[in-house]
Amino acid sequence: MNTPHIRVWDIFVRLFHWLLVAVIGFAWWTAEQGGDWMEWHKRCGYTVLGLVIFRVFWGFTGTAYARFSHFLYSPKATFAYLAALLKGREPLYLSHNPLGGWAVVLLLLWCTLQAGTGLFANDDILTEGPLVHRVGYDLSIEITRWHKLLFDGLLIIIALHIAAVAYHQLLRKEPLLQGMLTGNKPAEHVADRLAVAKTGGWMKGMVLAAIAAASVWALISL
Ligand code: HEM
Ligand code: HEM
Repeated sequence: MNTPHIRVWDIFVRLFHWLLVAVIGFAWWTAEQGGDWMEWHKRCGYTVLGLVIFRVFWGFTGTAYARFSHFLYSPKATFAYLAALLKGREPLYLSHNPLGGWAVVLLLLWCTLQAGTGLFANDDILTEGPLVHRVGYDLSIEITRWHKLLFDGLLIIIALHIAAVAYHQLLRKEPLLQGMLTGNKPAEHVADRLAVAKTGGWMKGMVLAAIAAASVWALISL
């Protein structure tokens, strides 16, 4: 008999995720190219900021499994999950598991810092972030150093994220990737199934996306 699947990741979460992946990849590539590509590098950074702001809004008001209140657990519950994981007996979750939930917070914060420092960065040639005039040249040079260091950290966190997904997918046979692509996950034997799922709604998602975009525009016009 087929395991019943339910909709866990709505279209906004999925679009957020895969756009973030594409845009961070493109930001990396454009930074390597330099020159005229730096205009695109900046646009990638603004998009990352917009995506993260949207995801934070959605974490408070979006569909049930996408809410922070659903997938952020106490330190005690998180350590209990870790202990079970180390014994290879961790429970299954529909949304992010307790460790995964905190990894999401870390990824969102790191992306914010990465793009946020970019706003104050300059390459000493042609390109400067839109807020360099707020901090002056010397501090901008220092922040540019952080911007580059942060990226090494981001690569490490992303590598850990992909390793964690691969562990669940390949060793524990959980279809996480299919979940992030189709939105649906098998709903049997899970620890976090909700009786009533809150809905998100297209209109709400579109309005929040517009507010996120406007916030970035306001920020870079400061
Ligand atoms: C730039 C690289 C990446 C970043 C910044 C990133 C970031 C994130 C974030 C923030 C989430 C949480 C989604 C949410 O709740 O909104 C997530 C989940 C997820 N990511 Fe990524 N990701 C990256 C690359 C990848 C890649 C390459 C894969 C595929 C191999 C992947 C597979 C997944 C899956 C399957 C989930 C859902 C995990 C679960 O079901 O708990 N990610 N990622
Ligand atoms: C998450 C988004 C971003 C990522 C992943 C990222 C990544 C990077 C990386 C890897 C470099 C180093 C290139 C090198 O070593 O030569 C770099 C440089 C730079 N980034 Fe970003 N960046 C992001 C956002 C931004 C934003 C929003 C701005 C400005 C609006 C910006 C402005 C710059 C500048 C001016 C440099 C040149 C520094 C130099 O070559 O001396 N970045 N970025």
